[in-house]
Amino acid sequence: MMLIRVAFTSPYWSLYDLFVSLFRKGATEELRGLIRKKTLSKEVMLFDSGTSAIYAALKTLKLKEGNLVAVPSFICRAVPRAIVAAGCIPFFIDIDDEYGVDYNSLKKAIKTRKIKAAIIVYQYGKVPSNTKKIISLCRQNNIKVIEDAAVTGLYETSFGLTGTLGDVSIISFNIGKLITGLGGGALILNDPKLVSRDIIVNTSIQPMLKKLNTIVYFLFRIKYKKMLFPFYYMLKKIRGAELKGDSDLCRFDEGLSETVTPYGIANFQAHCAYVVMNKQKQILNDCKITAEAYTKLLDSKKVNVLPLVDNTNAKVVIRVQNRDRLQQELLKKGIETQWTFYPCHKQRQFIGFPKTKMPRTDRVWKQTLMMPSGYNVPHNQIRSIAEVVNNEASKN
Ligand SMILES: Cc1ncc(COP(=O)(O)O)c(C=O)c1O
Repeated sequence: MMLIRVAFTSPYWSLYDLFVSLFRKGATEELRGLIRKKTLSKEVMLFDSGTSAIYAALKTLKLKEGNLVAVPSFICRAVPRAIVAAGCIPFFIDIDDEYGVDYNSLKKAIKTRKIKAAIIVYQYGKVPSNTKKIISLCRQNNIKVIEDAAVTGLYETSFGLTGTLGDVSIISFNIGKLITGLGGGALILNDPKLVSRDIIVNTSIQPMLKKLNTIVYFLFRIKYKKMLFPFYYMLKKIRGAELKGDSDLCRFDEGLSETVTPYGIANFQAHCAYVVMNKQKQILNDCKITAEAYTKLLDSKKVNVLPLVDNTNAKVVIRVQNRDRLQQELLKKGIETQWTFYPCHKQRQFIGFPKTKMPRTDRVWKQTLMMPSGYNVPHNQIRSIAEVVNNEASKN
């Protein structure tokens, strides 16, 4: 097979957009207006990241020091980190087969401890089919719902528009999200009662160095991330920013507990997010074509592919027995994949926090691999990738 170099993710903004964004004024208000218009929410606040938006969500809900917030353990660790930064305690919940909050685990947790808020999440851009059921369970028990729509952004599902389903909702514009801008995040207040209260969360303007770091981070990591790790690590040392991705990186800095500083979004970030948000239809269509091609070419008897539901899969995710070996084999052919999350309840920084039993999380995280997804993966590359995956899977 020919050596192919498949980009893991590519943005829907161009270098021209990036250039324009540096000189744009008023982009923040434009983006805010667009999100308000789409969600019909009374209040939208913009931040430098989705993590900051979660922090602000918890502050907006006026949770008290030490309140318990239910959150799946199979999630980007920025989420529980924001919970801790807001003075609350994460209560880790197991996932179900669709990578969302497991209903029964949440129910058990509610019975045993006083949970004040729950974070529901759409991992890989897939809205789990039990979403409404989970929200009802929370409502019955007077638990506030924070909808983490970081990956999906805003789009229509059979349940309604994501980003409008929680008491408060957040979206992110970081790498790996459907709306990949140049970082940033939005907090959407859907409960009108929250709007009339004192919801101001102090945000400061990002320092110049952070802005610069963000641009460098995106420019270099958006395509071939691994070769840039040493370079980016140096930058991270100078000015902390999120490092995400590969197993090595996850393990490497699992113990680091960074602080969360909720800066406001920068104008250049807002501009790129705005540009991409307006291309959402095209993005969804591209994701659908990619996901359908993988589903058709992968051997469903040996490889478990996260099914398309409501056209909401931003990412193509498979589950195989020997995930690490498969990742190595793909890498030898220049194909980058990512195995996303090392469960939070296993990470040193979160050990000791309450949790439910984790049979699915403990099993699934070792099997899951995210394929190169998006518009930039041509059909012939998907065929080559599927060939390697099918071949490796048949060795198990
Ligand atoms: C589900 C989820 N929520 C929140 C975040 C944090 O968003 P950001 O990277 O913009 O801080 C992430 C990041 O990967 C995520 O996957």
